[in-house]
Amino acid sequence: MSPALGGPGSAMRRLNVHVLTLFPGILAGPLNESILKRARDKGLLDVDIRNIRDYTDDKHKTADDSPYGGEPGMVLKPEPIFKAIEALRAEHRDEQFLTILLSPQGSIFDHRHAERLSEERRRIVLLCGHYEAVDERVRAALVDEELSIGDYVLTGGELAALVVIDAAARLLPGVLGDEESAYRDSFGDGLLDHPHYTRPAEFRGMKVPDVLLSGNHEAVRKWRRREALRATLLKRPDLLAAAELTEEDRAMLADLRREMSG
Ligand code: ADE
Repeated sequence: MSPALGGPGSAMRRLNVHVLTLFPGILAGPLNESILKRARDKGLLDVDIRNIRDYTDDKHKTADDSPYGGEPGMVLKPEPIFKAIEALRAEHRDEQFLTILLSPQGSIFDHRHAERLSEERRRIVLLCGHYEAVDERVRAALVDEELSIGDYVLTGGELAALVVIDAAARLLPGVLGDEESAYRDSFGDGLLDHPHYTRPAEFRGMKVPDVLLSGNHEAVRKWRRREALRATLLKRPDLLAAAELTEEDRAMLADLRREMSG
């Protein structure tokens, strides 16, 4: 058994996530498929989905109300959210929590956030906003951090919560198999991925680059690095400023820039 699976001498680590939502059904599908399902089955990821409506007191299970001050739209009420989080804290008395609100006002989620969350020992609470807004007292008293998955407005935070869970879970030790983890480093070093090819070696006149068929591992490594640099330079040159670049990388970049301007 590998250390990640809790073999001898290792402490198995599990990422514990609680999602508070008005629409639990949105989350069910993606968590029950493919790698996320496998991570949960292996005990590496635990996702507990709670319906905010279950923490309401009235017979209509009212979770939202109109805003003070008379704007259009609805605001998520504070009471059920406070109750839900208090219930969680009571169930896990000796544990720490990190409460994250998903909203378009948050800082933009990226690979670094995913890495940090994948190493998180606290229980992560993902609070999914819906409608127009969440009562500000929730943000002020309960929320440690606010995350957005991009500069656009979704109908709710559920898809964003799934993105956060997926990106963090695939970085947990033991979640990706050997073949899958070959792709783990894309973005890990701040560069875009190099192109990939599989059989056939020629398809409708389009050939796989000779170097990939050469069996020369060093030449293949260099080709991949150069193509990762090329892809980044062409599609996301902004990433190069923060990327971890070696002397060889810088020489390749200079060469690529010459090639592109020539
Ligand atoms: N809720 C609505 N839009 C969102 C976004 N872009 N990111 C995270 N949560 C959201």
